[in-house]
Amino acid sequence: MPFIAPSLLAADFANLQRDVEMLNASAADWLHFDVMDGVFVPNISVGLPVLEAVRRHARKPLDVHLMIVHPEPYLEAFAKAGANSISVHYETCPHLHRTLQQIRALGCLAGIAVNPHTPVSLLEDVITEADLVCLMSVNPGFGGQKFIERTYDKTARLKDLILRRNAAAYIEIDGGVNLDNAPRLLAAGADVLVAGNFVFSAADPKGVIAQLKDIRPIEMA
Ligand code: DX5
Ligand code: ZN
Repeated sequence: MPFIAPSLLAADFANLQRDVEMLNASAADWLHFDVMDGVFVPNISVGLPVLEAVRRHARKPLDVHLMIVHPEPYLEAFAKAGANSISVHYETCPHLHRTLQQIRALGCLAGIAVNPHTPVSLLEDVITEADLVCLMSVNPGFGGQKFIERTYDKTARLKDLILRRNAAAYIEIDGGVNLDNAPRLLAAGADVLVAGNFVFSAADPKGVIAQLKDIRPIEMA
């Protein structure tokens, strides 16, 4: 069974407590929290005070996705604000090995997020330092974008790398995930599915989360 991580980016920020409580009562495993700086990505979202506010109401782990340049000085603050996992982007971290160790030392799962153009082969020498690899299946910065089809093959290649290196990282897919692409993503090796708009634009978000949670991998012919 996959882990389901609804993305709060698609929640109603004026009713965040209501939406977090809906997720508490749902089959969601983690709450995905997107931080954007307007530099690494062409959008600005929310940061530490909002994470602290969510932490006060969330009864599930908070999966923090940092789309920010120079994340290193802020890792401790995100851990203190309530992050259970912190993913930094491969593209923003020249000393990624050290940064992942810093995240683990803070007691959080250490994640590497990877842009669509970044090959997973670049993770060969760092994969055992990661608890999570977040494969971006859209270009980061916005919710509601179209899923990039090449992600299936990329997921399978990452799964091979993880097995070959005897690593234990979860594979998380972020962007454009829905009930059509999820079965094939699971078949390719995905463990965690992030879903923003697909959950929050549904008439019955809890029902959609339950459906995602119930998906079984289906190999494509
Ligand atoms: C995009 C974010 C995603 C986003 C996913 O930059 O990292 O987490 O919220 O939203 P959907 O599922 O709508 O593509
Ligand atoms: Zn994200």
